[in-house]
Amino acid sequence: MPEPSGSPVSRRTVLTGAAVLGGTLMAPGMATASRRLDDPFTLGVASGDPSPDGFVLWTRLAPRPLDDNGLGGMPDRVVPVEWEIAEDERFGRIVRRGVEDATPQSAHTVHVEPAGLEPGREYFYRFRADGHLSPAGRTRTAPAPGLLGPPLTMCFASCSNWGAGYFTAYRRLAEDQPGLVLHLGDYQYEGPTGPTAVRQVAGAETMTLADYRRRHAQYKTDPDLQFAHSVAPWLVVFDDHELENNWADEVPEQPDPNFLERRKAAFQAYYENMPLRRTSAPQGIDMQLYRRIQWGGLATFHMLDTRQYRDDQLSGDGAETGRLDTRRTIVGADQQQWLLDGFRQSSARWDVLGQQVFFAERDLAAGPEERHSMDAWDGYAANRDRIVAGWVDAGVRNPVVLTGDVHRHWAGEIKQDYDRPDAPSVGVELVATSITSGGDGDDGSNVALDENPHLKFYKNRRGYVRTLISGGELRADFRVLPYVTSAGAPARTEASFVVADGDSTLHPA
Ligand SMILES: [Fe+2]
Repeated sequence: MPEPSGSPVSRRTVLTGAAVLGGTLMAPGMATASRRLDDPFTLGVASGDPSPDGFVLWTRLAPRPLDDNGLGGMPDRVVPVEWEIAEDERFGRIVRRGVEDATPQSAHTVHVEPAGLEPGREYFYRFRADGHLSPAGRTRTAPAPGLLGPPLTMCFASCSNWGAGYFTAYRRLAEDQPGLVLHLGDYQYEGPTGPTAVRQVAGAETMTLADYRRRHAQYKTDPDLQFAHSVAPWLVVFDDHELENNWADEVPEQPDPNFLERRKAAFQAYYENMPLRRTSAPQGIDMQLYRRIQWGGLATFHMLDTRQYRDDQLSGDGAETGRLDTRRTIVGADQQQWLLDGFRQSSARWDVLGQQVFFAERDLAAGPEERHSMDAWDGYAANRDRIVAGWVDAGVRNPVVLTGDVHRHWAGEIKQDYDRPDAPSVGVELVATSITSGGDGDDGSNVALDENPHLKFYKNRRGYVRTLISGGELRADFRVLPYVTSAGAPARTEASFVVADGDSTLHPA
């Protein structure tokens, strides 16, 4: 364990604190040269990216989360953070313990990657710093490789906009006691809040590292979000708003000479504030976000990055080429190869693509001009065709695409030829509505349901999707809340679908 440098908290003091399990927070003899920190655990705890023998544990020290320098009220020194993992909720059976330095360079965030734990079981964890004890979190390791294991409750969500409402849907998600949570992007929004917002964010539009760090800190103060992080490991990927609206690779939506600096700042803050492994730590303006997580033999989660590697094949006059242009790519050549290789190597019962934007064709039926979203896979139709052909050719048993972004629930079937309604379905897509973005919503229908016979369900309410994945079937419950502009809404299941093993069609349950 590294000896903290420049810290007035001696190693001996830390270990003394460690011995006080569940007891007093203030270790005796803790008198130090500098003032003791106020409670630094205002942002909760989180875990992520489970493997059969470990996971990532996360926290961040921030006694004053809204400080405008983004440093959370922390002094400019290294602070050692003790962590411990137990088999039981009361921390009676500790199985791992260590100390990790929280540094000013990483805004006093902590990423711990313990290994050597048992597969397929639940663990509890917590942190201690400067005599303060963090809330406890629950997490779990993935099942042993190849093992089908027990059914998995996996919930997925996207698009939590602070100003649009309360994060009650995160709390309802947590109450469903998932074993795994996927977050598909727009975890936070870069914009300021206007006078009509339900809740105000601190500061203007996020542009600098300090801005992004403060925005992340403010989001993490939300008790519903903290609760959701504390119940299960998360697999996170960003979409656009973690940086700015509809960015694509190195191209901002509006011309901006400082865009690459902004991208670097946004990625740095994103990594700092998410339970990601060190392999995802940014290198300059780049960040390795796409990755695979095996859940025994039950599921392989292919987490995609549909922002960093886009190539819209601009024509000479700066205009984007047509959506059917075969040179346009939404995942880039390397990620596509990695994904196709993954399909060929997969022996999982379910191959789940955790990704951001609408995947199946969706004729918006909105007007005579552009009837497809150029920001979604429809804008990269040839790339989509190659991905789908890849999983069909590889004989992937059960491909399931999970999507966020559109602030609506949708369910649909994926085809290789959408012009033939009788074409066989070769996969299913489940689209989670937003946690808050768009506000309370309504119960209206959508004309695209008539125009796109492969789309089976639509709902404009806030919520999340709960899945129960077993060897025989995948069940999806579309959970909705009647309102988010005031706190405490109940959740109910608006619709349920079942996908049977080996049959890529949606059956109402
Ligand atoms: Fe969004």
